[in-house]
Amino acid sequence: MDDIAAKSVLVTGSANGIGRASALAFARHGARVAVTDLDETGAAAVAAEIVRSGGKACAHRLDVTDAASTKAVFEAAARAHGPVAIVHANAGVSSMKAAVDLTETDWDFNFDVNAKGVFLTNTAAVRHFRTHGVKGTIVNTASLAAKRGAPFLAHYAASKFAVLGWTQSLALEVAGEGIRVNAVCPGFVATPMQDREVVWEAELTGLTPDAVRRSYVAMTPLGRLETPEDVADVVVFLASDGARFMTGQGVNVTGGVFMQ
Ligand SMILES: NC(=O)c1ccc[n+]([C@@H]2O[C@H](COP(=O)([O-])OP(=O)(O)OC[C@H]3O[C@@H](n4cnc5c(N)ncnc54)[C@H](O)[C@@H]3O)[C@@H](O)[C@H]2O)c1
Repeated sequence: MDDIAAKSVLVTGSANGIGRASALAFARHGARVAVTDLDETGAAAVAAEIVRSGGKACAHRLDVTDAASTKAVFEAAARAHGPVAIVHANAGVSSMKAAVDLTETDWDFNFDVNAKGVFLTNTAAVRHFRTHGVKGTIVNTASLAAKRGAPFLAHYAASKFAVLGWTQSLALEVAGEGIRVNAVCPGFVATPMQDREVVWEAELTGLTPDAVRRSYVAMTPLGRLETPEDVADVVVFLASDGARFMTGQGVNVTGGVFMQ
């Protein structure tokens, strides 16, 4: 994956979890990474971690639900590292509730970040690629819940199914320009999001948070919780020339939980 070296990469939601691991993985491959997140302090800490280990990184506050700041952050990243060529649209949120108890607020919270955030990040990316004449590539973070529904996650799953529909359609539109658009579909990943979800699921099911975690492992053929790095390595591959003939894919990274 030598082609990643020195490329300008932008990762959304990279102060924590999968996005953080992706930013660190791109930096290990020699890329210059714009670490962006709603959590500005967390983004700065990840960028500092990259710089301390000899890599190149800058940090920017970015709310992916805000079109103007999404556009601005691409310009800022380009000023720091050159035109952005790789985008990992990863920022996401979740909440858990029985479907019939969901409020419009629950629905909008999940759709605003997970679906609209990907739409805004991807369209800003394609416009940026065109302005700078870059044959860029985009990787979106979808989910196992983009392939099959899950109890208490109807709104989240709907927002992640939307990500795959968007990924396939955009991939078809921009393929002729040499721009690739793919998605990763992670399973049960040990991140701060999972820490929140096991508590909610425990409240909804009467299990303990530990028992919920054990149930995730029991559902995973490879027999352990997924790590953020398990996902990040696939993201880097999809962004690399090794994946040059892949576009419009939703690649399962679930330890075998889902196989279609
Ligand atoms: N953890 C899992 O099991 C799992 C499984 C499948 C998919 N995913 C997806 O992976 C992605 C990352 O999840 P994670 O588990 O690392 O979550 P996380 O909560 O650990 O990290 C998500 C990051 O996104 C940031 N963020 C939230 N709203 C934002 C916004 N409006 N603008 C910019 N940044 C924002 C948060 O500040 C946080 O740093 C999400 O899209 C999530 O839906 C997670």
